[in-house]
Amino acid sequence: MKFSTRAERIDPFYVMEVAKAAQQMAREVAGTREPMIFLNIGEPDFTAPPLVVEAAERTVRDGLTQYTNSLGLDALRERISGWYATRFGVDVPARRIVVTAGASAALQLACLALIDAGDEILMPDPSYPCNRHFVSAAEGKAVLIPTTAEERFQLSAAKVEAAWGPKTRGVLLASPSNPTGTSIAPEELRAIHEVVRAKGGLTVIDEIYLGLSYEEHFGHSALALGDDIISINSFSKYFNMTGWRLGWMVVPDAMVPVVERLAQNLFICASTVSQHAALACFEAESIAEYERRRAEFKARRDFFIPALNQLGLSVPVMPDGAFYAWADCTQVAHKLGVEGSWDFAFELMRRAHLAITPGRDFGTDQTARFVRFSTANSMAQLQEAAARLKALIG
Ligand SMILES: Cc1ncc(COP(=O)(O)O)c(C=O)c1O
Repeated sequence: MKFSTRAERIDPFYVMEVAKAAQQMAREVAGTREPMIFLNIGEPDFTAPPLVVEAAERTVRDGLTQYTNSLGLDALRERISGWYATRFGVDVPARRIVVTAGASAALQLACLALIDAGDEILMPDPSYPCNRHFVSAAEGKAVLIPTTAEERFQLSAAKVEAAWGPKTRGVLLASPSNPTGTSIAPEELRAIHEVVRAKGGLTVIDEIYLGLSYEEHFGHSALALGDDIISINSFSKYFNMTGWRLGWMVVPDAMVPVVERLAQNLFICASTVSQHAALACFEAESIAEYERRRAEFKARRDFFIPALNQLGLSVPVMPDGAFYAWADCTQVAHKLGVEGSWDFAFELMRRAHLAITPGRDFGTDQTARFVRFSTANSMAQLQEAAARLKALIG
């Protein structure tokens, strides 16, 4: 069978290969004293809180399961707008909010609306792999720019200016980032936006982890910088609803009808049941629960990252959000007699029954040195993981 060059261009998601091997290994060691611990998971270990579940049940029972408007339920767009006001102090009118099937659909819509064949989009290396594949699926070219720990593994205004070429259309940022959990410093983000605006380009920012921010200095939405910012968001992470497939994007007024046209054709609408259920995310009781969980994620970070550093798995920048740690495994891999993050991840799986994610998916620059640990697991599991790491390499 012949497949499109577009499809052939998309790299496999290596995370999945590691996850498959980890599942296989988990079955083998299930009955032992050291069952598998999964620190390779990119989703919260919490599920939707009670009010959201009840709202979903009610929606199905009441038969509210027809298609919605392609832009999303007006009531939900209003609630999201209200959340921007109360949580982030930014005025985002509901008319600029488009509800989508997760951030993934929002990113696809943004890429299809904005990118022409051959357009280049600047992105940091390392970054979430699907984002560059969305650019590629829209016939654009993701240009990965190597970043440093000093830059918090994010783009800088100077690098954007230097990398800007005749085909550059804009930047695609993520703050906080997957795999590093680090955000762009607010002053740097402002400077990047100024450079991009001066070039007549686009600033697209994936803020899917913004709700899971732990430092006041970083926890602000880029939307405060101006109405030309395109922000991607989701119910997957802070709202603990990964499988409900619900997200949203905030776009400039002029882009709303374009995205609406694409959404009508490509998706019709996001899941109606999920949209009705998500209204309950913004009830005081649900927000209180989400805030308790955010505090738990922070406590896990505060325990686990120092533990990694002590073991020589150095995390060069303390994550300020999300639930990831981007750790340099060079020294420790050497100790175990292996080279590179890919082999290190498999060695850890075999010898300590710990599943982690090697850097390979996230870019090319230093990804052979780095691995991603996820702290989206219970404190007890993280403590056990730290103890196993200590026994193996300590
Ligand atoms: C940075 C980033 N963007 C987007 C997504 C996709 O999320 P969603 O479940 O909302 O499609 C993820 C998922 O892990 C992510 O880490």
